[in-house]
Amino acid sequence: MSQVLEREGKCRRVALAAMASNRVIGREGKLPWHLPEDLKFFKQTTMGHPILFGKTTFEGLGRVLPKRRNLVLSRSMEPVEGVEVLRSLEQVLALEEPLLFCLWGGGGISSTFPAL
Ligand SMILES: NC(=O)c1ccc[n+]([C@@H]2O[C@H](COP(=O)([O-])OP(=O)(O)OC[C@H]3O[C@@H](n4cnc5c(N)ncnc54)[C@H](OP(=O)(O)O)[C@@H]3O)[C@@H](O)[C@H]2O)c1
Repeated sequence: MSQVLEREGKCRRVALAAMASNRVIGREGKLPWHLPEDLKFFKQTTMGHPILFGKTTFEGLGRVLPKRRNLVLSRSMEPVEGVEVLRSLEQVLALEEPLLFCLWGGGGISSTFPAL
């Protein structure tokens, strides 16, 4: 997907979310399921691209994802090595990032970016 979007130059922001048939995407800060194929797709799609998490999602993940620029949207998070903390939507939109911009966040992030 990311390669297609890059090639066609159609989009700078991509929202990725895995959703159950009842529209659930998370539980207690983590994914409610373990699906290796989904994780493989996520890795392939985001590799080499910046990725934006909501703070809760990042904390649930518990680590920095390698070979990607890790961005976390949060008003309260303390600095973490390997992570750039952005404090507002304005800071996100001001990023000078070419090509693809991957978003991966929970409901909080999704409601921040309704236009996606
Ligand atoms: N199924 C999937 O594809 C998928 C993908 C991602 C996440 N998830 C799941 O979703 C759940 C987490 O979602 P969530 O909605 O609870 O949390 P979230 O979106 O990961 O994080 C919410 C936090 O992001 C920060 N934030 C949001 N909008 C902001 C803004 N405009 N400016 C500054 N900071 C902002 C706030 O942090 P502060 O309180 O510090 O300001 C807020 O508390 C987890 O269970 C996760 O596993 C599922």
